Amino acid sequence: MARFTVLIVAAVLAFLVAAPVPEVTAKKFLVGDKNFWNPNINYTAWAQGKHFYVGDWLYFVYYRDQHNILEVNKADYERCNADHPIKNYTRGAGRDIVPLFVTKQYYLLDGRGGCFKGMKLTVTVENPPPPPISAPAKEH
Ligand SMILES: *[C@@H]1O[C@H](CO)[C@@H](O)[C@H](O)[C@H]1NC(C)=O
Ligand SMILES: *[C@@H]1O[C@H](CO)[C@@H](O)[C@H](O)[C@H]1NC(C)=O
Repeated sequence: MARFTVLIVAAVLAFLVAAPVPEVTAKKFLVGDKNFWNPNINYTAWAQGKHFYVGDWLYFVYYRDQHNILEVNKADYERCNADHPIKNYTRGAGRDIVPLFVTKQYYLLDGRGGCFKGMKLTVTVENPPPPPISAPAKEH
């Protein structure tokens, strides 16, 4: 009986430990942090050391009359050419979301003035890492 009780307690404990299944939650990145989307910010430095996973979002906050947010290809990114964007994320309020739906490199820039004073950002989007294995070993 005592042994049985121990097993029950162990099973309950195992359940409690395993219950909060770690959820992979999408992350919203405020681009530039408190500097927002502005001239004279080094967005390469901002992106450095960060991991961007599929399902995460980039959130751009800026003066809607002065800037926008466009996705371009690599060559256009390097040349700061906004003439043929792949996608226009600008909706007009100066608050724009870029959802990172695919594993690829995103090239984003301010098209009002072609990366005006360094307003360009590239991020590499990866698959999220597998959740940590938290289920306790089953006893028989
Ligand atoms: C921006 O930051 C990156 C990474 O720290 C650095 O390599 C680059 O030279 C910087 N660019 C400018 C224009 O300062
Ligand atoms: C992007 O879309 C916005 C909102 O529809 C529009 O006002 C703007 O002209 C577009 N910009 C480009 C470069 O297509």
